Amino acid sequence: MSAPLIVLVGPMGVGKSTVGQLLAERLGTGYRDTDADIVAAQGRTIAEIFVDDGESAFRALEKEAVRTALAEHEGVLALGGGAILDADTRGLLAGQQVVYLSMDVEEAVRRTGLNTARPLLAVNPRKQWRELMEARRHLYEEVATVVVATDGRTPEEVTRAALDAL
Ligand code: S3P
Repeated sequence: MSAPLIVLVGPMGVGKSTVGQLLAERLGTGYRDTDADIVAAQGRTIAEIFVDDGESAFRALEKEAVRTALAEHEGVLALGGGAILDADTRGLLAGQQVVYLSMDVEEAVRRTGLNTARPLLAVNPRKQWRELMEARRHLYEEVATVVVATDGRTPEEVTRAALDAL
């Protein structure tokens, strides 16, 4: 069984796909993203899956997508921001090199804006970001082998910091 070199976790908008692609380039390896795998397999957008089937159905699909990608992919693998909510998915990450890209709430609000179309953030982005981060931060920390803060850094700087930390 093969295994990814690096798994990236962290909140939406933190730059997992940009940094993941840069990391893969620097390491001369491939990049894969479980959100994209789910969309391709389902022929539906993630928003459609959430609306049609609900979040828990999405998390079940996500768990299987993570399991498959971990078994098949050698390279950099980015997970969706909420993948770590599922205990089984967290268990799948045991023994992997997991990089948590972190950002503080103000950085998150700056990056996603106060007028956001994201349903999880639509009503009061600052308050919703704070609640989301408080609920998830310890789960990201639980699975992480390396934490890289992205606040005030460009994707290139984050990539360099991740490579230095690995
Ligand atoms: C989610 C993050 C998204 C996607 C889905 C749910 C979350 O992934 O999996 O919309 O719960 O934080 P990104 O982190 O790639 O945006």
